[in-house]
Amino acid sequence: MNKADKHPDYKKMYSVVKKLFLKTEHFKHGPYDETFFTTRVYETAKEIVKHFPECSKEEILAAAVLHDVGKSKLDSDKLFKGCTTLGTADEEWCKHPALGVPIAEKIMKKLGHSPVFIKRVSFLIANHARRGGKMKDKPLDLQIIQDADLIADWGFSGFIRPFLYTGKFSHQSIFGAVDFSLHGWDPAKDKALINLDVSKKIANKKLKLQDELLKQLCKEIKSDLL
Ligand SMILES: [Fe+2]
Repeated sequence: MNKADKHPDYKKMYSVVKKLFLKTEHFKHGPYDETFFTTRVYETAKEIVKHFPECSKEEILAAAVLHDVGKSKLDSDKLFKGCTTLGTADEEWCKHPALGVPIAEKIMKKLGHSPVFIKRVSFLIANHARRGGKMKDKPLDLQIIQDADLIADWGFSGFIRPFLYTGKFSHQSIFGAVDFSLHGWDPAKDKALINLDVSKKIANKKLKLQDELLKQLCKEIKSDLL
């Protein structure tokens, strides 16, 4: 383990990732603000990893910062224009872990990380989306990354995101965003994909907050006129 491995420069890593995201049409102008999502995955990973001192916090947090960098290589047309001859949006999304590995390797190499560190972080990036039964015998560090990635967008972020989407795309009214929040997402389905009990506790807290905010909003927009 070298100096860079012991004290990774997460800020520098993030600044490179952010630049790559902002260069793309789909993240700069599209509905998915991946730069800020990355910060939430990093913070959520920090929250989970403190319960597991046996894991390498440095590798896990580096993977959290770099895990979605492959999305900078996705094709906006395939993601958002619904052109079937180009393949489906889902197929395009699925490519991002593999696309991210060479980019992350290059970033880590430039920052002076050892080959062992790079290999271990790359493994986490390559497999971060293989949730549920898609992979057997998942190492603990991969379980942490997968959980952080899954629950980072719950809670206040989960509450606010449909409204951000509405703000960017005028075809949907604010009531559409409320309707999506009430009926468009089934947390039970996603909760079943969480690996660790610690993550389940964090997720439950986040969901409670999300639910309370939504209930309060529903109360405030209720009117005899509607
Ligand atoms: Fe991802």
